[in-house]
Amino acid sequence: MRISYGTSRVVIALPQYSIAIKLPIIRVVRALRHLPGYIKRFHVWKRASLESSTVVTPPGLVLKGIVQNLGERRFYKRTKHPLLQPTLFSFFGLLNIQRYGVPLEGMGLQIADTIWKISNYDDERVGEDSHHFTSSKNFTKDETGKIRMLDYGFKKTQEVINLYGKRLHDEFIFPQTGHE
Ligand SMILES: Nc1ncnc2c1ncn2[C@@H]1O[C@H](COP(=O)(O)OP(=O)(O)O)[C@@H](O)[C@H]1O
Ligand SMILES: [Mg+2]
Repeated sequence: MRISYGTSRVVIALPQYSIAIKLPIIRVVRALRHLPGYIKRFHVWKRASLESSTVVTPPGLVLKGIVQNLGERRFYKRTKHPLLQPTLFSFFGLLNIQRYGVPLEGMGLQIADTIWKISNYDDERVGEDSHHFTSSKNFTKDETGKIRMLDYGFKKTQEVINLYGKRLHDEFIFPQTGHE
C-alpha cells in the first residue's frame, strides 16, 4: 500500500488488487480561516478563481476533491477515452476507485512538448492547463506500453483531452531506458 497526496485528493494505491482509492481532501479549517476575507472581497476572489485553477476559494477548499472525483467518474463513463486510466466507481465523489497505474517520473517535459506539438503550439487552452500536462505523476504507462492519464477531473483538462488526447495516446513515445 502506498499513499500519495495530490492537490485535492489523497490516493491509497493497492497494486495487489490493481486499484487506487481516491479520497477528497476536505480542508474545513483552512476554508473557515479564509471565509471572512472571501466574503468581504467576493468579486475579486470569484473572478480570480474562474480565471485560474490554482486559486482556491473557501468553497473550493471544501468541495474541490469531491468535484474532481465526480468529474473523473463522469468523464470516463461518458467517453471511455483511450487516454484515461479507467475510473471504475464513485461513491458520490467521496470515494473513487480507479485502476492502479505506476505514476511516471521525470517525463513531464516530453509529455507537455508532445501535446504542444499536436496543438501546433497555438491553443491557449493547453497553456491554461499546462501544469496538468507537465506533471508526469498525473500519467502512467499501461500494459500495452501506451500513455494514460490518472488525473482528469478538471473541466479544462477534459477539454484538452477531447481535442488532443487521442493523438497524445497514439503518438507519445516513451524514451528507451535500456532496461526494457
Ligand atoms: N490510479 C492510480 N494509481 C496509482 N497512483 C495514482 C493513481 N491516481 C493517482 N495516483 C497518485 O496519486 C497522486 C494524486 O492523485 P491525483 O489524481 O493527481 O489527485 P489530484 O487531483 O489531487 O492532484 C498522483 O499524483 C499519483 O502519484
Ligand atoms: Mg494530480
